[in-house]
Amino acid sequence: MKKDFMILGIESTCDETSAALLKGGKEIVTNVIYSQIDEHKKYHGVVPELASRAHAAKIATVIHEALGDNPIDCVAFASGPGLPGGLMVGRVAAETLANFKKVPILGINHLEGHIFACDFEGTEVKNRLEFPLVALVVSGGHTELWYVKGYGEYKVLGKTRDDAAGEAFDKVAKLLGLAYPGGPQISKQALSGRRDAIHFPRPLMPGTWEFSFSGIKTAVSYYLRDHQNFNIPDVCASFEEAMVETLVTKTLLAAKKYKVRHIAIGGGVAANTLLRERMQQQAAQAGITAHFVERKLSSDNAAMIALAAYKKLEHAEKTGKPVKKNIDINPNMKVRSWD
Ligand code: KG4
Ligand code: ZN
Repeated sequence: MKKDFMILGIESTCDETSAALLKGGKEIVTNVIYSQIDEHKKYHGVVPELASRAHAAKIATVIHEALGDNPIDCVAFASGPGLPGGLMVGRVAAETLANFKKVPILGINHLEGHIFACDFEGTEVKNRLEFPLVALVVSGGHTELWYVKGYGEYKVLGKTRDDAAGEAFDKVAKLLGLAYPGGPQISKQALSGRRDAIHFPRPLMPGTWEFSFSGIKTAVSYYLRDHQNFNIPDVCASFEEAMVETLVTKTLLAAKKYKVRHIAIGGGVAANTLLRERMQQQAAQAGITAHFVERKLSSDNAAMIALAAYKKLEHAEKTGKPVKKNIDINPNMKVRSWD
């Protein structure tokens, strides 16, 4: 690839419509993100039909803003996992643009994007990830642990059986009458609460790398039902404590089991301050380095999709194996090794 190889990334899997331009696999030139939060707020969660409509309404503007007058060499879009309507909008936009510009198109796994986003420092690609590592993808739609040998070499260790961690934050926020998205609201309330006020379960599920967060959520709902004068900050602090302890304990157990010295944490919930502090602290005690995505790039954005595309093309160039285009949309796409 030439030095200033330009990739236009597109992201539309959930409730952010985003387009970004990545130069030479090194630098984010633009990263335009239109968040649909205002559309979904009153429903306390993402309404798929509204999301599709908002993507359709915004994608052209967002791409136009990200692209400007710049030349491009490739178009990459998130082809899954995600909501079908949004994925279709992303694909149509990407394919139209790629055909018009006569450049190749690549479909990218959204979750790979969340982990590769750990490589950014500000707008620069600093290749911070060190392999092998254990990755925790933790967002509103997903909670997964992977063993990652290198870029494009994965083994999925376990996923959530029910709610994703972000989803649990959003649902508990709804129970408490807090705004959507719930994660930041709960963290804010938790600052003035006691983390040991209420003991909510820590579903560690020994013997598997799977997660299950619906039990914590149900425990919160029972607590609220049985206590008329509950204290919102105490509930938030105790809930956040249970969530973070579960995520940190399982991730570090996996890191030890797979004998890795590095972990990577990406996705919307990676913005959580308590998770960042506890994971850093406990990882350091175990001689493990935790690579967190920077907060600004933790939620959905197209720069991470463009970077994943760059890594894929670079890998193809190194190995001489053709890159799989992966452009059929797949709402339930699993992460797969590239070779
Ligand atoms: O990665 P993301 O933008 O979208 C998905 O791919 O799902 O993640 C959004 C999720 C929401 O559930 C939101 O509540 C959660 O990330 N989130 C947080 C925090 N900031 C966002 N959860 C806990 N603490 C936070 N500070
Ligand atoms: Zn995401």
